[in-house]
Amino acid sequence: MENQSLQKKVVLTCAQPTGKLHLGNYIGAVRQWVKMQEDYECYFGIVDMHAITMPYVPAELRKNTYMCAAQYLACGLDPDKCSMFIQSNVRGHAELTWILACLCPIGQLERMTQFKDKARKLSEGAGGVSIGSGLLFYPVLMAADILIYNADLVPVGEDQKQHMELARDLAQKFNNTYSPTFNLPEAYIPKTGARIMSLQNPDAKMSKSDKNALGSLYMIDTPDVLRKKIMSAVTDSGSEVKFAEEKSGISNLISIMSSVTDKSVSDIESEFAGKQYGAFKKAVADAVIAKFDPIRIKYEELMTDKAYLESVLKRGAAAAQRRADKMMSKVYRKAGYVDAISSK
Ligand code: TYM
Repeated sequence: MENQSLQKKVVLTCAQPTGKLHLGNYIGAVRQWVKMQEDYECYFGIVDMHAITMPYVPAELRKNTYMCAAQYLACGLDPDKCSMFIQSNVRGHAELTWILACLCPIGQLERMTQFKDKARKLSEGAGGVSIGSGLLFYPVLMAADILIYNADLVPVGEDQKQHMELARDLAQKFNNTYSPTFNLPEAYIPKTGARIMSLQNPDAKMSKSDKNALGSLYMIDTPDVLRKKIMSAVTDSGSEVKFAEEKSGISNLISIMSSVTDKSVSDIESEFAGKQYGAFKKAVADAVIAKFDPIRIKYEELMTDKAYLESVLKRGAAAAQRRADKMMSKVYRKAGYVDAISSK
């Protein structure tokens, strides 16, 4: 058993504890994780340390962390097949961030699109909130999350591509500066659904920070709410259910339909040839509700059992810690640190 798991490729991915997970998180991430746990040695982190790079409320962060864990389990993550953990519960993420930060040029961080977007939002906000250095170092912490497990594969949505490139650059830089240590992790980006867009503004990605409450579909929305949001999704003035760049609204709905039903885009186009947008939206709503309703029911049940959630997270953190410790002692040795405390 031990030997078998040693040979498996290692998968690591993480998501911020945003509370309610939206359809983009499900399609771009969690759905892949559920499949991958069958074939790989998987580590899934809830990144509460990333969550504090923007202004936040501690009591909400705590609640959101439980909510995320419950949603992942409700989606099918199985504690017997993967290790699900909270980032701050595993020693080493912040320590490796420091080592990598010392190798990372500041200019590379300042050029990160997500940093620029978030920094702009903060400075435009009421009273112009100051930008913490943690926000600049966000991608270095993400690189540490990946490299501390020496991950082979990292399933993510399209929006994390630039961060993934930095993680590979830093791995390479460490290997060149000291000696070969880290694998170069590969991003694993789904073919359809890597970028689910807002239902109200199909040119912006679906995101929890969308000001329009109808723009995002949440896994734990009730069926009525899901239906209402999908039926009021913005589409173009045409009537053909066809995937095309200039039809961003309808193409987004086709991607959603394809991802939740596992049907191909062309099968969906043929099925709805000659049908109106209204009929297509109704079918999308039925498909999303059929997918999410059992997840919501399971989620509600899990949220009543905090002790169970904690036991899963504790077990996940212990497994993650074992792997992280091995990597950190290697890293420290190569960096020239003296270990005068561990028993030899
Ligand atoms: P986060 O929490 O924003 O999102 C979690 C995952 O969901 C994907 N995603 C989407 N996919 C498709 N369409 C969308 N509209 C959409 N919105 C989000 C994201 O690509 C991601 O895969 N920085 C990361 C968290 C992180 C991480 C890591 C990821 C921290 N450390 C190490 C991988 C490996 C983030 O903020 O994801």
